[in-house]
Amino acid sequence: MDSRINGSANQPITPALVTRRIPEAGLRRLEESGVAFEVCCEDRPPTREELLAAVKGRVGLLTTLADRVDEELLDSAGTQLKVVANFAVGFNNVDVAEATRRGVAITNTPGVLTEATADIAWLLIMMAARRATEGHRMVVSGGFHGWGPKMLLGQDLVGKTLGIVGAGRIGSAVARRSRGWSMKVTYADPEPNAQFEREFGARRVDLETLCRESDIITVHVPLTPETRGMFGVAQFALMKPTAVFVNTARGEVHDEAALAAALRDGCVFGAGLDVYENEPQVNTDLMNLDRVALLPHIGSGTIQTRDQMAIMAADNLVAALRGERPPNLVNREVFPGA
Ligand code: DGY
Repeated sequence: MDSRINGSANQPITPALVTRRIPEAGLRRLEESGVAFEVCCEDRPPTREELLAAVKGRVGLLTTLADRVDEELLDSAGTQLKVVANFAVGFNNVDVAEATRRGVAITNTPGVLTEATADIAWLLIMMAARRATEGHRMVVSGGFHGWGPKMLLGQDLVGKTLGIVGAGRIGSAVARRSRGWSMKVTYADPEPNAQFEREFGARRVDLETLCRESDIITVHVPLTPETRGMFGVAQFALMKPTAVFVNTARGEVHDEAALAAALRDGCVFGAGLDVYENEPQVNTDLMNLDRVALLPHIGSGTIQTRDQMAIMAADNLVAALRGERPPNLVNREVFPGA
């Protein structure tokens, strides 16, 4: 454990815990705040046992999406826990209802990773549509024996229909980039988004229609009971055999086995994934297929974005420890009226 305790008279007794090394910008921010904290030293997610032991008696936790913050963990932390500052925009790793019941503030890092994640979605769209993974493998394995008129033919994107599932911040940034390809934008979202429709000339449709009509289907929804398993056998069966499916949100939104079968059977042309059902495990059928581009959950992985996420998570932690409403509070009930 790396301790950075800046001891002052009104410090909490047990330092806050940063469950894994985060970019130095965030640690500096914590140091500047004067809040006492410790960092799990090694650059790996703590095991469950390590985490349960490390959280005991903490007033604050700065967690990553690999840390499951559930009843068991909250019990282990104890009643003095005030805040869990998640180093991610997604907070499906946290039992927010249970934390709220206990008066523990939950925070996230919205906004700062929008552009980086939209870039990764587009990278995957391009990779899958133009069969970049197969091309790369061909070259590095010595299988490229010269230009071929029918070699690795992909799909055009210009003028095609982009189906965005979830018209929030990241969905909007993905739509904005599609202007470069003059694409028609459709979207599926439980709530109509008038601004999105105005800005991108987008049409709101139901999920079935989006699956049936889109050339690219790209997922930008949080993981919730409603979105878990949203894409399975039935949805892939509706897609065009020329369609590309991309998910940069959460892996549990699609059924990996169903996607692998759809790709194998030619129901879908290609897929690009940055997220998986059981990270870090990846379905071996998917890994063995040609028309898939697979990335290791790096949607927000730029130096600048991760620095901003670290600073934001640090600010959230510090505010809650000072008894102030954290800027990115997820469970507003914890600071009523603030
Ligand atoms: C998030 O923030 O939720 C991303 O998935 C991790 O960067």
